[in-house]
Amino acid sequence: MHALPSQLVDGLGRVHDNLRISITDRCNIRCSYCMPEKGVQFIDRSEVLSYEEIERFARVAVSLGVNKLRITGGEPLVRKDLPVLVEKLAAIEGVKDIALTTNGVLLAGQARALYDAGLRRLNVHLDTLDRQRFFEITRRDELHHVLEGIDTALACGFGPIKINAVAVKNLVEPDIVPMARFGREHGIEVRYIEFMPLDAQGLWDRGRVLLADDILRMLEEGIGPLTAVPDPDPRAPALEYRFADGNGSVGFIASVSRPFCLNCNRIRITSDGMLRYCIFALEETDVKSLLRGGGSDDQIRELVARVVSAKWLGHEINTAKFVAPPRPMYSIGG
Ligand code: 5AD
Ligand code: SF4
Repeated sequence: MHALPSQLVDGLGRVHDNLRISITDRCNIRCSYCMPEKGVQFIDRSEVLSYEEIERFARVAVSLGVNKLRITGGEPLVRKDLPVLVEKLAAIEGVKDIALTTNGVLLAGQARALYDAGLRRLNVHLDTLDRQRFFEITRRDELHHVLEGIDTALACGFGPIKINAVAVKNLVEPDIVPMARFGREHGIEVRYIEFMPLDAQGLWDRGRVLLADDILRMLEEGIGPLTAVPDPDPRAPALEYRFADGNGSVGFIASVSRPFCLNCNRIRITSDGMLRYCIFALEETDVKSLLRGGGSDDQIRELVARVVSAKWLGHEINTAKFVAPPRPMYSIGG
């Protein structure tokens, strides 16, 4: 048998050291650009990887050079005992960084335990600070819980905390400036994520993306001049801008207007144990069968290395060839 690699390098020389772990496809709110209001078909619980299976997969990935982990969903806090998983992941030698993406609804009650388990970095999904608009966007009246969650997380000492706001045109324009002001007040970076074609209902089209350049203009008009910050990590997907008055910064994940596929360092595992080399991949590889069917760690290693080596250049959102993946965002993990 040939030697297993110590790093996950694809055909373009991209080194993959970042694993995103989706632990559930369920969610306690219903963002209109993500999930339909009713009738969502969730993955059967028996198909969802256990924390032990996730930990084992993460260990194998770390042995292949992965050192950054992100827990995502759906909404990860709806899964029971998340601090138990965080603790298991934090104990893996070689893990340098663990982050969590959450909608914040259940954060107030769990922040302390997550912090104690070793979590430090948080991304909270929030599009608006207005109760009525929050309800219109998410179909749930939960804004107060999210704000309470952010407050609690700040008080626990999490850092950095970032806010993810999805940039959907004809929807979030009134919130762009207030969100950035909120970030400035709380020492939180707001990141505007260009709406990507990953919604369950096929609502996406190019015309519904609020582009980073347009948001930048709105922020400069509403608040003041912004200057680009060179990123110390050239592979980070966000473009960062600092307010010229020295108070705070904002980020843009410009997946549509400025794709960053050439710098991609990520692989993903879905809650039902499918490995994906790209959020937009049209194919995925079954890891769960190996995890549950007596596969060895080496067999899993080989599989991961094979998937990465076959990784494509990137998505083609900007071409006529683009085909949306068969799974929506909430089931892939953002
Ligand atoms: N396009 C871009 N971002 C999205 N998110 C959810 N759906 C979309 C979409 N269609 C964001 C949410 C979540 C993060 C993982 O991705 O802010 O926090
Ligand atoms: Fe839930 Fe996130 Fe989808 Fe909103 S975008 S419905 S918070 S999974």
